[in-house]
Amino acid sequence: MKALILSGGKGTRLRPLTHTMAKQLVPVAGKPILGYVLDHISEAGIKNVGVIISPETGDEVRGYLGSGNRWGVRIKYILQEEPLGLAHAVKTARGFLKNDDFVMYLGDNLLREGVKNAVRRFRRDRPDALIYLKEVENPKQFGVAALNKDGSIKKLIEKPKRPPSNLALVGVYIFSPRIHDAIDRIRPSKRGELEITDAIQELINMGYKVVSEILSGWWLDTGKKDDLLHANTIVLDEYIRTSVNGKVDPASKITGRVEIEKGATVIGSRIRGPVKICRGAVVENSFIGPYTSIGEDVKIKDSVIEHSVILSGTCIEGIERLEDSLIGRNAKVVKDHDQHKALRLMIGDDTTVEV
Ligand code: G1P
Repeated sequence: MKALILSGGKGTRLRPLTHTMAKQLVPVAGKPILGYVLDHISEAGIKNVGVIISPETGDEVRGYLGSGNRWGVRIKYILQEEPLGLAHAVKTARGFLKNDDFVMYLGDNLLREGVKNAVRRFRRDRPDALIYLKEVENPKQFGVAALNKDGSIKKLIEKPKRPPSNLALVGVYIFSPRIHDAIDRIRPSKRGELEITDAIQELINMGYKVVSEILSGWWLDTGKKDDLLHANTIVLDEYIRTSVNGKVDPASKITGRVEIEKGATVIGSRIRGPVKICRGAVVENSFIGPYTSIGEDVKIKDSVIEHSVILSGTCIEGIERLEDSLIGRNAKVVKDHDQHKALRLMIGDDTTVEV
């Protein structure tokens, strides 16, 4: 069994962050989403991993994952020149996949449970595709499944105008090599992409066995700001354990589950968990409230921050209250004058500022 991780695409829904970084590398609770994906692949005992990259963000993805050593896997990078769809990505990876079964995992999907049990079921039952389904509120934005009374799959439709159910296809699939024959038979969709959903439907049309599993744990699509803040909240809730390895001076007070990495400094501040503070960060004379992730080398002074994600290298100073915010890398949010009520802004493209 091999794994194919998709880490290309343009990430338009997460602009402006994705003007300069791959959407799969945006951190949730201080760790890039791709890191969680690799954890799951490695837990399932898969050693041979192909990673689909795009010309725009390929180098950055490579820089983070490297050879795969950290996860005990071997990574081969496969360039998809243009984002022509998920099934097109599989076609591009044909030389790597050969005639092996494989797990396909979309690099911006975050799942609570890994793929270990699904891999075991696939090996036992030998279907040609195993898909995960999950109930969602907005099925129009996903691939959707219609089921028969006995729970078997009747039909799969990509982004339907009139969804037949609220069961969305999760971005994790397991395939036998028959998927390649199905992909060869499909045509591009209305959005001009070779859809993996259409290829799985084609497997059904060809009479092959496609089985589904309803996902019981959470599944997060990290595509937009609010989704990302939500993901951060859930992951902090679930994974953060108190561990203070950085320097905390006696005037500071830490309550709840707070992880402070080695090399981080907290001076005269209150931190109320769940909170993650990464290495190199300095928090001074501030309050950091629940569900906040502070990236590497961030400086926070004289500020109050809650339910926010602050990426690396950013400086926040003199801000009375910052909430529900997602701040990119090397940004500055500073209050430098008390008298004037004017805002002075230099903001990147596609940015939202609420004042
Ligand atoms: C893709 C798939 C869709 C699936 C979704 C899961 O959508 O085409 O069927 O439900 O991933 O994240 P996309 O992200 O390309 O809009």
